[in-house]
Amino acid sequence: MVETRNPVVSVKGLTKSYGATSVLKGVDFSVARGEIHALLGGNGAGKSTMIHIITGSASKGDGDISFFDPSGAPRTDAEGRARVAVVHQELALLPHLSVAENITLPHYRRGFAAVKKRLSIEKAFEALAMIDPEFAARSLHRLVEDLSLHEGQMVEIARALSSGAELILLDEPTANLTAAETSRLFSVLRRLTRETGLSVVFVSHRMKEIRQIADVCTIIRDGRTIVDRLALSELSDVAIIEKMGQVAASHSASSAAVDRNGMKGEPLSIREADLEITLSPGTILGVAGAPAGPATLISALVGAAQAKRWTVSRAGWPERFASPRRAAAAGAGFVTGDRTHKGILHSLPIIDNVLASRRVVRGATFISGRERLECVDLLQALSVKAASIWDLPATLSGGTQQKLLLARWLGLPSSLLVLEEPTRGVDIRTKKEIYQLIRQMASTGTIIVWWSTENAELLEVCDRIVAFDTEGCASGIIERQDMSEDRLAELTGMAT
Ligand SMILES: Nc1ncnc2c1ncn2[C@@H]1O[C@H](COP(=O)(O)OP(=O)(O)OP(=O)(O)O)[C@@H](O)[C@H]1O
Ligand SMILES: [Mg+2]
Repeated sequence: MVETRNPVVSVKGLTKSYGATSVLKGVDFSVARGEIHALLGGNGAGKSTMIHIITGSASKGDGDISFFDPSGAPRTDAEGRARVAVVHQELALLPHLSVAENITLPHYRRGFAAVKKRLSIEKAFEALAMIDPEFAARSLHRLVEDLSLHEGQMVEIARALSSGAELILLDEPTANLTAAETSRLFSVLRRLTRETGLSVVFVSHRMKEIRQIADVCTIIRDGRTIVDRLALSELSDVAIIEKMGQVAASHSASSAAVDRNGMKGEPLSIREADLEITLSPGTILGVAGAPAGPATLISALVGAAQAKRWTVSRAGWPERFASPRRAAAAGAGFVTGDRTHKGILHSLPIIDNVLASRRVVRGATFISGRERLECVDLLQALSVKAASIWDLPATLSGGTQQKLLLARWLGLPSSLLVLEEPTRGVDIRTKKEIYQLIRQMASTGTIIVWWSTENAELLEVCDRIVAFDTEGCASGIIERQDMSEDRLAELTGMAT
């Protein structure tokens, strides 16, 4: 354990239950000034719950949370919490206000409105310029709805800094970012910790990133602290995965060399200007690059109205599906990348979320006993722990909700499955299991089209990758034998 010199916050023996479910069972966690601290653990371990309790947005059970000022003197909970800011995967900004207005919002709450508007704009500029002077000059008056997610995160960090935050908790901030955006975020965080003594807590399921950014780590497993403040340099990847309880059940890696030529089903061809890709049944096509380009291809495939750029043709299929329902009925599955707004059915229980596609494909209305068992099996295949399949999805952790979207399509006889970031926020063990399940689907002849911002997973799983550059144009196709991180970075214009 690395001793916490000069802590900002210290959590001891924290517990938390939801009804009969005990989520935190005595967690210890402390963060020192100026450090970047990785908070690690599998899906449902209790990371977000602890973060919510530290910020005061959830109540605690037993245990203590203490805050300290820079001299080491204790602060009251209210004073301490005023110095803590959270940045989630989903932005907490008001889209119809400008960047400057969003940054100064917390000041208004404290009666800053009385001060001249000019002053508040200066303050916003100052905070944003600490992060990126060029961005500050260019974007102070832009509307937040016109920003990319990465830019929005910068605004959130600026808002935290301008309100005097000494600790920023980043709960999976990189899950929606491309490699280049992630590395820009990291350099900002590193500079801020060095120059201002800011402390950062960083949650991520991407091992490579954790190593890049963090100094120390705390590992939580099933609501308990397993590793309390250990330097990352003292832990191997294998040790971290093992401590998190993430050692995967051994699979028979039998799905490898499948003879895709012998498979039944029609090939699918997609075309844009002078680029043509023909996918035979069972092919896993990776799609790489910043969201704009992949979005055009994906919407052409799954029947959304826009994107005339791409032509999709397949024997027996219409030129374009009239609706997602028609697409699903014809055997084209889709996992959306926007889990919160488009994927999860928030007001329906877990079981309906899992069975949604089966409903459409089978045209069934009522849940049969057989389907109930099917749901339990699907959840098991993805290591989902739910108190009851009749609970609402809101009772599940972020990564676990993501698994529901994929479960919808597992085991269905789809002839095409289009995936947008299907492993977003999913823990390391389940990721490996998902790769295996997707390979299995491909081995039955399903064509998989898979967009991911995590290049490593595309390189691991795909037969071919189509890359898009930062302008949204398709920049090339990489075949299995030519795949490498460098080649992918080059084609996506994201060499770092
Ligand atoms: N409102 C709630 N009611 C019941 N259970 C809940 C509720 N909120 C969270 N839980 C449970 O608490 C546990 C911890 O969830 P939490 O969101 O803290 O996990 P996490 O470590 O952040 O996981 P992930 O990596 O998937 O984000 C999960 O088992 C979850 O189902
Ligand atoms: Mg979480």
